[in-house]
Amino acid sequence: MEMEKSVQALASATLLSGTLPAEFIRPLAEQPTATTRHYGPVSMIPTVDLSETDQEKLVQAISEACGTWGTFQLVNHGIPPEAINRLQSVGREFFELSSPKEKEECSDKATAGGSRSVGGYGRQVREDADGKKVWSDHLFHKIWPPSSINYQFWPKNPPSYREANEEYAVYLREASDKVLKLMSLGLGLEENALGEALGGEQLQYNLKINYYPPCPRPDLVLGLVAHRDLSAITVLVPNEVPGLQVLKDDQWIEVEYIPNSLIVHVGDQIEILSNGKYRSVLHRVTVKKDRLRMSWPVFLEPPAELVVGPLPQLINDQDPAKYKPQKFKDYMFSKLNKLPE
Ligand code: SIN
Ligand code: FE2
Repeated sequence: MEMEKSVQALASATLLSGTLPAEFIRPLAEQPTATTRHYGPVSMIPTVDLSETDQEKLVQAISEACGTWGTFQLVNHGIPPEAINRLQSVGREFFELSSPKEKEECSDKATAGGSRSVGGYGRQVREDADGKKVWSDHLFHKIWPPSSINYQFWPKNPPSYREANEEYAVYLREASDKVLKLMSLGLGLEENALGEALGGEQLQYNLKINYYPPCPRPDLVLGLVAHRDLSAITVLVPNEVPGLQVLKDDQWIEVEYIPNSLIVHVGDQIEILSNGKYRSVLHRVTVKKDRLRMSWPVFLEPPAELVVGPLPQLINDQDPAKYKPQKFKDYMFSKLNKLPE
């Protein structure tokens, strides 16, 4: 079966013809220009500075960010900028220098039954509720633990792709371990509580590269529709082109670009474990007319068979469990196959 044309290819065609295919045009209620709140100075999501030496202050900052916004900028995280630059350049080279055939070799051709493709190169298979499509292509693959990696989905080109991704995985684990520990302390728990509840050494690191080509009508399309991540947390490297928006007090707020900062999202599994004290953030992505956005989120996810439910330490008579414990794979299945509302 031939692959559906990439948005990247469509974007070039659209630039020539000047006409945007109708399947990308969002209903008015979703169109970015109509729905984005533009404050005077940019309203900012919270920042968490990992180099803060006052531990109590740090724990307070992270728990407040997770409890109110469900997202924050992580600065001074200890990942060398060179490692991040390498991750970005090999990813961009894959999208821009490899042939359609090389890309197809990284795609998941075995996806059956219309369920979301969870590995490889492609574009969102499932249409949205209104039959619309998103203005982005992606590549998905695991980067940790090594036993979970299927190298079929890793680009062979550029040749340094593998080394750059392996290097980033090592640094990312250190930084995200720290984040999970601080998040645990912020819930009044012992520092390993969340990490262990998510499978400890079995925690999966699933990288996605999002590629959002420039679009002649950015006011009408979305790069990704509003959603919450089903991960525990997501740690994201953005490029310098903003586009990510988060919903706060019923307003879409644009996340600003801070050089060398990572963006951390609370995902559904941490909301569940924390019994709702930390909030899985609703977010979406807008695109630009003349600029390419790319982003490299890594989804930290429990192993498929692990049962995730509110931590017993956090529930009592006053604060009963708000979520039903279930295996991560069952949670994922029902979320991804849920009929659009
Ligand atoms: C997301 O993966 O939901 C956000 C991606 C982005 O910020 O580009
Ligand atoms: Fe997301």
